Amino acid sequence: MVGLIVARSKNNVIGRNGEIPWKIKGEQKQFRELTTGHVVVMGRRSYEEIGHPLPNRKTIVISKSKRYEGENLQTAGSVEEAIALANGEDVYIAGGYGVYREAMPFADVMYITEVDLEIPDGDVFFPAFDADDFTMTTGETLGDEVRYTRTVYTRRTNKNKEKIP
Ligand SMILES: NC(=O)c1ccc[n+]([C@@H]2O[C@H](COP(=O)([O-])OP(=O)(O)OC[C@H]3O[C@@H](n4cnc5c(N)ncnc54)[C@H](OP(=O)(O)O)[C@@H]3O)[C@@H](O)[C@H]2O)c1
Repeated sequence: MVGLIVARSKNNVIGRNGEIPWKIKGEQKQFRELTTGHVVVMGRRSYEEIGHPLPNRKTIVISKSKRYEGENLQTAGSVEEAIALANGEDVYIAGGYGVYREAMPFADVMYITEVDLEIPDGDVFFPAFDADDFTMTTGETLGDEVRYTRTVYTRRTNKNKEKIP
């Protein structure tokens, strides 16, 4: 199973100046719950922002310039290679832009949190996708100062699945 997890603003922003442009108490709980015990794949910049492998998960960093190796930490040169390295374990794609774009054809399900903010000066966006390829269900709306809504996009048919090595 390949899942993709993202939180995006109303104008599709996911990053600004190398950071997530909001801090919302409780918003990352879903990420932790879904990914714990599984494999998380992220781009080099996102990994460097966090600065360490995530606890109780295997982290695979996508990079062509650096290698990160250690306990529960590996590096792959592409999303396809990362999925192959996961060896059939559940994989969660955690961004940023290029990683989401490359992973999208492989995603069985996308957990998209819609954050009720406009971010005018964002510099990283969630890539466009064809909503017709997915069935969307809307979950809870949460948050006090900033509201956010959980949505789940489940692929109708995964035509590209046979491409996974
Ligand atoms: N809102 C959210 O849910 C969310 C989630 C994740 C990240 N973010 C935000 O997004 C921003 C970071 O995203 P980003 O797009 O700038 O960087 P990124 O994807 O985290 O990292 C980019 C680097 O990853 C490697 N890479 C990415 N795609 C690749 C591919 N298809 N094949 C091979 N290598 C690839 C390259 O590393 P090398 O240069 O080493 O080859 C590239 O320079 C930050 O602001 C972060 O806070 C937000």
